[in-house]
Amino acid sequence: MCGIIGYVGKNNNCVRVLIDGLEKLEYRGYDSAGIAYFNDGKINIFKENGKLENLKNKIDLSSSSNIGIGHTRWATHGKPKKENSHPHQVGKFTIVHNGIIENYGEIKTDLEKKGYVFKSNTDTEVLCALFDYLYKSCKDVLKVIKKASEIIKGSYAVGILCDDKKDKIYVIKNKSPLIIGVGKDENFIASDVPAILDKTNYYISLEDNDYGVITKDEIKIYNNEKLKNYDVEKFEFDADLMDKKGYQHYMLKEIHEQPDVFKKTVNDYVNTSLDGLIKKMPDFTKYNKIRIVACGSATHAALVGKQMLEEYGNVKTDVETASEFRYSKPFLNKDELVIVISQSGETADTLEALKLAKDNGNDTLGIINSKGSSIARCADMVLYTKAGKEIAVATTKAYSAQVAMLSLIALNLSYKKDLISTHEIKEILNSIRTLPSQMQELLSNEGEYKTIAEKLASHNDIFFIGRKVDYALAQEGSLKLKEISYTHSDAYAAGELKHGTISLIDEKTPVIAIVTDESVAAKTISNMIEVKSRGADVLYITNRLDDVEDGLYDKKLVIPLTHKLFQPLLTIIPLQMIAYEVAKIKGCNIDKPKNLAKSVTVE
Ligand code: F6R
Repeated sequence: MCGIIGYVGKNNNCVRVLIDGLEKLEYRGYDSAGIAYFNDGKINIFKENGKLENLKNKIDLSSSSNIGIGHTRWATHGKPKKENSHPHQVGKFTIVHNGIIENYGEIKTDLEKKGYVFKSNTDTEVLCALFDYLYKSCKDVLKVIKKASEIIKGSYAVGILCDDKKDKIYVIKNKSPLIIGVGKDENFIASDVPAILDKTNYYISLEDNDYGVITKDEIKIYNNEKLKNYDVEKFEFDADLMDKKGYQHYMLKEIHEQPDVFKKTVNDYVNTSLDGLIKKMPDFTKYNKIRIVACGSATHAALVGKQMLEEYGNVKTDVETASEFRYSKPFLNKDELVIVISQSGETADTLEALKLAKDNGNDTLGIINSKGSSIARCADMVLYTKAGKEIAVATTKAYSAQVAMLSLIALNLSYKKDLISTHEIKEILNSIRTLPSQMQELLSNEGEYKTIAEKLASHNDIFFIGRKVDYALAQEGSLKLKEISYTHSDAYAAGELKHGTISLIDEKTPVIAIVTDESVAAKTISNMIEVKSRGADVLYITNRLDDVEDGLYDKKLVIPLTHKLFQPLLTIIPLQMIAYEVAKIKGCNIDKPKNLAKSVTVE
């Protein structure tokens, strides 16, 4: 979601730095891009709709400049088109912005009365005009920014150039991410560290309501008019990050990384015993209830976790969608642990839900993949998943790392509450050892996933059914298919079908039935037979061997059996692979699906 980059330094290659940075931010998702830079004391602005390539074709990468800002836009206010793309310029100000100015309408009306005329439909142009208006009566840009922050409401990370300050980039941040990259005789601003990693891996994370000014050799950050001391952090760079390693897409590479991610996530806590789990994981036994709040796939991971926490940890667990939770009456008891799950650690709704839980006085735990992210910094306790950075917009390895972490928490609770036998612990340790090779086995079935995908690719509506944990997995399988292959699909609790949805099932409607939870297998199988008898084309995904007569489904995909706590990590692989293969057949942009952003920093 909107990417910001900025450069001020001794070198004259600013344009190249901005474009390099925007390329690195492409993974966030965007629909237009633009840059602004000083050249001979004047600001040049270039922006284009669509891919970065369109912008690159319009600019001279060797233009001389040593200060500028750039932006990839993911439309919020106003359609994706050139006039709405950033940077926006009004009077003496040129800005790039990530976030939403919620009260821009009233500010706009006010500024229009003062003579401002707007060319775009954006909230950002209004913010830019506000800076310009305030600057007319106060020539101190920092004071202008502070004053503007008292007027605007919403989320914003902003990079600002002022015609009168040719060696300075100004910034302000609230609820949207912004970092300052610290180099030698050069400094950067960016939405995320990877945008500048080839230039420096030292950075400062801005906090909410921070604002400041950056020159090539000085960084000043203020909060509430007070100059702040800040820590410069070092980002540990993984050189493999941007390498596709021979895979056609990052998504495929990331799906294949799951066995390794599982080992990394689990190895911190479990080896030949559960010692590490006891020592390194906080004690959650004091909580009478758990509430998990997240968005998208992270919510689906939470739904898997709910099953594990209730069955093994014997603790009531509710899952809520962050965007709903944050505007509802939370009904949080004080003895309730609130867990937020996020790959990026920057999802606006999840962050706000976390703040709400903290304000309510609840203990909070973040299951986070990105070190130092806003959510990681805000939560009382953090358990880091070890998925490494994901480049593909659709999450795969981070999702399974979240599921693995929730299973470990459930196991920890079960052990501490003395709910698990020594025999079962041995079985679990054995499952943990063999799981990576079972995952590999599933990953090697590419041909089978392709054959299934060939059948599915011509359909417009596909149904997933399952019960309990299999329903949670069905929801993730359905989301993966929708987001990358643009195929409509829905996931249903298998028992719900006959309450309405079964009317949509007719000859050849594809239904993917997931049956791995033995406690409800017979029930789901009878629902599967119900749809089959109405003509559906049934793909039966199961860890059971000899159970259902051949004629009662069209294809069976057998997945290896493991301990119930970790079974979802196997079941999800065929679902991810089928979505991937369908998207490939349909020629979709798999790593960067249309309209989607990797990091959803607006609500
Ligand atoms: C789907 C997907 C999204 C994210 C959601 C939350 O493939 O990636 O649904 O899971 O936007 O993002 P994080 O985990 O970064 O909070």
